[in-house]
Amino acid sequence: MLHENYSVNAAGHLCLNGADTTVLAEKYGTPLYLLDEDYIRARCRLYKRAMEKYFGNGSSVLYASKANSFKKIYRIIDEEGLGTDVVSSGELYTALEAGFPAERIFFHGNAKTDEDIRFGVESGVGCFVADNYDELRRLDKCAGERGVKQKLILRVTPGIDTHTFEAVNTGKVDSKFGAAIETGQAMELTEKALAFKNLELLGFHCHVGSQVFDPKPFLDTAEIMIGYLAAVRDSLGFTAQLLDIGGGFGVRYVESDPQLDVDATIHSIAEYMKAKCSALGFPLPKVLMEPGRGIVAAAGVTVYTVESVKTITGFKSYAAIDGGMTDNPRYALYRSQYTVYPAGNMNANPDFVCDVVGRCCESGDIICPNARIPMPKSGDLLAVAVTGAYNFSMASNYNSIPRPPIVMVSGYGDHLAVRRESFADMTARQL
Ligand code: LLP
Repeated sequence: MLHENYSVNAAGHLCLNGADTTVLAEKYGTPLYLLDEDYIRARCRLYKRAMEKYFGNGSSVLYASKANSFKKIYRIIDEEGLGTDVVSSGELYTALEAGFPAERIFFHGNAKTDEDIRFGVESGVGCFVADNYDELRRLDKCAGERGVKQKLILRVTPGIDTHTFEAVNTGKVDSKFGAAIETGQAMELTEKALAFKNLELLGFHCHVGSQVFDPKPFLDTAEIMIGYLAAVRDSLGFTAQLLDIGGGFGVRYVESDPQLDVDATIHSIAEYMKAKCSALGFPLPKVLMEPGRGIVAAAGVTVYTVESVKTITGFKSYAAIDGGMTDNPRYALYRSQYTVYPAGNMNANPDFVCDVVGRCCESGDIICPNARIPMPKSGDLLAVAVTGAYNFSMASNYNSIPRPPIVMVSGYGDHLAVRRESFADMTARQL
C-alpha cells in the first residue's frame, strides 16, 4: 500500500489505521473525510525529533496549517509541542479558539490587512512573518499604538526554482512573496526593518515550493540563506538568531512517487547548513521548518459512493461519485495525481479503467482520470487516498454542494471533528 497506515482486512475492505473505511462510511455517510490521528501525531514526532536532533539549538517545527485547518488539528499540534503557522486571521482565529498558545503562532501572509495586523498584535502572536515594506510600516504603527515590541522575521526569496507546478513554486526571484536576495531588495528591506522602533527582527524566512522530493533545492536554499545571513551581519551588523526554511517535502500520492526519507533529508540539510556556517564563521541560528503536507496528507482518505457508471463505447468509461472538485479541487487546479481504491472490494481484479468524476456541472470536475479499479456499480464505495492536505482547506460550495465532515480515526476509535455542512449552514449568511 502507499503508506503504512493503509491496510486491507480479512473482508477485503480498505482500512485506515486498522479502522474499516466501509464501516465508517456506513456510520457517518459519504462523502467523508477520514483523518488518522495517530499518523498525524507520529509525523509531528518524526519532524520534531529530526529538527531537534540534527540542528539542536532550540530548533523546532511549525505546522503549516493551510494544509488542513480546523480546531481539533490545532489541539493535536499543540499537544505534540509544535508551533503553527497561520496565513490569515481566519486560521489565527481557529487556532486561538482551539486554545493554541499565541506565542507559538507565526503569522504569514503577503497582503495582510490592517485588521489582520491588529488581530495578530492584540492576540500576542509570537512572531509575524513580514513580507514587504508596507506591512512593516503598518505593523510598527500598530505595535507602537499598543505599546508592544512585535517580534518578526522577514520573508526573503532565495531564487530557487523547484520545478514543481508553477502555482506552488514560491521561492523564485520573480514571486509575489517576500523580497529577493539576488536583486538587493532583501538587504534593503532588512535595513529598514531594523530601523523601526516597535519591531524586533529575529531573522528570516524562506519557502521554495511544495511537493518537492529532490533534496537539492533545500540544500541550495540552505547555502543561499546562510550566505545571506552572513552578508547581513557584515553589512548591517545584525546577527540573525532565527532561520525558518519553510515547508515543501513531497508526499507519495501514487505508487510511482518516491517515499521521501524525512529524517535523512533533515539530517543532510542540517549537516550542509552547519558546514556552511562554520565556513563563514557564522553561528548556527535556531532553525524552523514548516511542513504542512508532510504532516497531514497521508493521514487522510476520502470515501465516496459511486452514483453512476457509464461506458461510452469506443471512448471511455466514467464512474461518477457523490463528491468531486468541491471537496478535492487538486486535479482540476494542478492536475494532481491520486490513487483510487475500491474500499469494499480490495481483493478484486482492478481491470476496469475509468475516469472518476464528481457531481459538479462542469467537465473539469475530475478526481482521477484513468483510475484502475474493479468494475464498479452504483452504490459501491470508492476511497481516494492521501487527501489529508489541501482538500478540506480548499473545499468550496460550488453548485451549493455542502462540504463533508471530518472524522478522526485513532487507536481509541473514531469521532467527529467537523460535522457535515447542512443546506442551512450554506444559506445562513444569505439575507
Ligand atoms: N510555509 C509556507 C510559507 C508555505 O507557503 C507553504 C505552502 C508551507 C509552509 C507548507 O508547504 P507544504 O509542506 O505543505 O508543502 N494548495 C497547494 C499547495 C500550496 C502550498 C503553498 N504553501 C496544493 O494543493 O498542492
